[in-house]
Amino acid sequence: MKELILPKKILLGCATAATQIEGGDKNSNWYHWSQKGKIANNESSIVAADHYNRYVEDINLMKEMNLEVYRMSIEWSRIEPKEGTWSQEGILHYQDEIKKLIKAGIKPLVTLHHFSHPQWFEEIGAWTNRDSVNYFKRFVKKVVETIGDYVSEYCTINEPNVFVTDTYMDGKYPPGHNDDIVSYFKAAKNLILAHLHAYQLIHKIRKKIGYDNTMVGFAHHLAYFECKNSNPLTKLSKRLMDYSFHGLFFNGMVNGHLTFPVGFGYPIGKGIYCDFIGVNYYSRHIIHPSKNPAMLFGEVKVEEDLPDFRVNDLGWELYPQGLYQVVKKTYDKYKLPIFITENGIPDAKDIKRSKFIYDHLAKICKLISDGVDVRRYYHWSLLDNLEWNDGYGPRFGLIEVDYDTLERNIRKSGVFYSKICKEKRVTKNMIETYL
Ligand code: GAL
Repeated sequence: MKELILPKKILLGCATAATQIEGGDKNSNWYHWSQKGKIANNESSIVAADHYNRYVEDINLMKEMNLEVYRMSIEWSRIEPKEGTWSQEGILHYQDEIKKLIKAGIKPLVTLHHFSHPQWFEEIGAWTNRDSVNYFKRFVKKVVETIGDYVSEYCTINEPNVFVTDTYMDGKYPPGHNDDIVSYFKAAKNLILAHLHAYQLIHKIRKKIGYDNTMVGFAHHLAYFECKNSNPLTKLSKRLMDYSFHGLFFNGMVNGHLTFPVGFGYPIGKGIYCDFIGVNYYSRHIIHPSKNPAMLFGEVKVEEDLPDFRVNDLGWELYPQGLYQVVKKTYDKYKLPIFITENGIPDAKDIKRSKFIYDHLAKICKLISDGVDVRRYYHWSLLDNLEWNDGYGPRFGLIEVDYDTLERNIRKSGVFYSKICKEKRVTKNMIETYL
């Protein structure tokens, strides 16, 4: 294993999402979803890692870990628990958290929709509702007017592709539809429009209060797809998957271009609606030809029969080359700065995480030396958290959370990452100690 030197311009940190760590909120759709027994082992989102009450302690840990940047999300249901009613308590909470982060020298990137929203929004059909974009705009306006003085970087929507897939095709996220392709595309269209409007709105508000250094983008789950065989039908399935999972969203969210089947043309004009592209990368997916010839989409699976050291605790293949491939392809096409907004591994025993970090950072060094403008790396995740419908089993944290006592404990890989954040390199000594 070689020493690594990371260019100074790439800032290193961690990512989280409100529902997964905060706890305490009964107005979000995920609380209601957990009350219906929809999370593994009947687990609930009500306590999570209790970050809402422990954010000061957690920021101290981030500081101890030398993080330079932190991606967090604001829980819409804490700001607007009832339609049209704003919670001063929620607003003050996030203002304080953000001010404390900045005081600790950690630059925040704020996500505005990370899979969860208020239950009232869920009850009116969420992103399939024709007014959803207006509701979201009103929320974004409120947030940016209250934190716009401290936050210059925003991520509008997290993984619109995974969100619509898990919500409308795979029944995992509320309201849990299966194979509801109509809602998939309806919601996809509204999420694209929500991003485009939010992009303009955030810039407008920040400009008005005197800032011209605003960066707005979205975080996309970029899966690295490969065909199981060279059969033309499998290749066609891959192209269809690539389009409905990636291309459709990029056309809309980067270029403002609605393409079939979500629409046609440029609803708010041709342009570039991203200042960066957020890439969430986890694994490689193999496209198998569908057994049902009417289903052109085929089936997406992880590579079969992999040895244990090649997979994580959820059985996903560890495939750092895929990060290089998806980022290179995206950068070559759009030439926009890249933020790696998520990359991580569920690894309860913490035996694979340090190598995972090293391998992925090595790919980032290669990307940068090949001319790709990668500016951020946010490891997923700071803390163990609620892995949505999979519950608390998967352990993604650099910091371990004891769910009985809520005590935090920096894992060995967390110490390794802290050293990388401080030194911006991986030395021989670190390789010997941690890998
Ligand atoms: C992403 C998601 C995160 C987290 C991560 C780990 O799809 O944005 O919230 O759950 O996956 O699986």
